[in-house]
Amino acid sequence: MGRNIIKAGTKIPKHIAIIMDGNGRWAKKRFMPRGYGHKMGMERMIGLLERAFDLGVSYVTVYALSTENLSRPQEELNGLYDLIRTYFDKYMGKICERGVGLRVIGDTSLLPEDVQTILKNSEEKTAKYQDKCVNVALCYGARAEIVRAVNTAVQQGEKVTEEGFSSLLYTAGQPDPDLLIRTGKEIRLSNFLLWQCAYAEMYFSKKMFPEFSDKNLDEAIVWYSSRTRRFGKTDEQL
Ligand code: IPE
Ligand code: IPE
Ligand code: MG
Repeated sequence: MGRNIIKAGTKIPKHIAIIMDGNGRWAKKRFMPRGYGHKMGMERMIGLLERAFDLGVSYVTVYALSTENLSRPQEELNGLYDLIRTYFDKYMGKICERGVGLRVIGDTSLLPEDVQTILKNSEEKTAKYQDKCVNVALCYGARAEIVRAVNTAVQQGEKVTEEGFSSLLYTAGQPDPDLLIRTGKEIRLSNFLLWQCAYAEMYFSKKMFPEFSDKNLDEAIVWYSSRTRRFGKTDEQL
């Protein structure tokens, strides 16, 4: 065990959003198929979730499959669906024990039906847990999410406030992400949580996702803790 870099005064973000990128490149570098990278990425994600909740984080949103990813080769997509089939039930019991709920965000109607059933069951089993939650973004795109919310608002026929609009998004009722982490070297959002991350602190890691360790998560949190969040004000006003 290395030295724990999280100290008593470290500010822990309430909500962390993670873009788990770099699985394919990580596997390729090891002369392995992309699917192997996704499997190792899935296992790493489980470890990171445990670490985050141990540290007192309440919400974690993980970007696991974007709307745009649906145009990847069918073989890769089938491998990803298989991972959900294998890992979801197995892992859900473990997170339930911690009182963590699961919410799937995105257009799940685009997933195979048996996968939809697995996800729905996990959501239902953990629906009683509201204070701590893992949001798994599957077939998710932020623009699609916003358009969906706009259409709901139009149907309701009333003008919306910012709070009212937030409550029409998949993340309704949850605080916005404080810290956004993206692995895999890219410095972009790739259509993730465009509305919710308006004031998120952004941390970009050169590590590929399967090699992003618990210690790397701690480092991101220590970095977050050192940021001054002004929300438009001056230092003197804080
Ligand atoms: C992220 O890893 C996971 C998914 C998008 C499903 P990638 O599959 O994008 O890995 P790279 O970016 O090709 O290395
Ligand atoms: C973003 O990664 C989506 C997920 C991690 C699920 P991508 O690999 O799809 O992003 P781009 O295409 O490089 O922007
Ligand atoms: Mg990628």
